[in-house]
Amino acid sequence: MNIYIRQESVNDYQAVFDLIEQAFKYEKHSNHKEQFLVEKLRQSPGFIPELSLIAEVGNTPVGYILLTKIYIHNEEKKEDYPSLALASIAVLREFQGKGIGGRLIEEAHRIAAQLDFGSIILLGHADYYPRFGYVTMAEYGISMPFDVPNENCMLTELHEQALTDVQGTVVYPEEFGII
Ligand SMILES: CC(C)(COP(=O)(O)OP(=O)(O)OC[C@H]1O[C@@H](n2cnc3c(N)ncnc32)[C@H](O)[C@@H]1OP(=O)(O)O)[C@@H](O)C(=O)NCCC(=O)NCCS
Repeated sequence: MNIYIRQESVNDYQAVFDLIEQAFKYEKHSNHKEQFLVEKLRQSPGFIPELSLIAEVGNTPVGYILLTKIYIHNEEKKEDYPSLALASIAVLREFQGKGIGGRLIEEAHRIAAQLDFGSIILLGHADYYPRFGYVTMAEYGISMPFDVPNENCMLTELHEQALTDVQGTVVYPEEFGII
């Protein structure tokens, strides 16, 4: 099976909406609104077109990943450190388990590093992301602005020591609907 990863275009928006909705349909820890979040994030200042990626099989979009700009705020130092949020990733149910999610993550990491980002943060399945280098945020002294199990709050560095001396709380843009 040939998997082709490319940047999303406006013509893909409907297919991406449908695939996110379908992929999350039976997910226990989902509000089933991830497709609407992606629509909002595309219109937000944190949107980076190069980090909105589609996985295609035979010219059909079957997977999607989006990384958008966020920052980590250190109240003591009054410093903000740029980072990226992985929200969201989805693969059509009949295409899951074939390495497509992995390919999307690896390609997103590669492009994010090229764009000079140093880290990616996410809230997600504790058993899935460690294989791509994600560890719990608590190990770095970085926390989410809401109460969630530590094991689901993860990050990865895109180059060594990207987060050296970076501690604080993740600040999500208003599109995430987090106060
Ligand atoms: C999570 C998701 C993007 C993974 O994509 P994928 O193409 O199926 O993943 P890959 O084929 O690259 O990897 C498959 C491996 O991941 C594991 N995996 C898939 N979903 C998992 C989950 N929710 N928790 C733990 N492991 C998971 C599979 O068991 C498989 O493991 P194996 O290689 O040891 O057999 C996809 O399953 C999906 O769209 N799920 C519904 C939406 C969702 O949950 N998105 C993520 C929100 S955090």
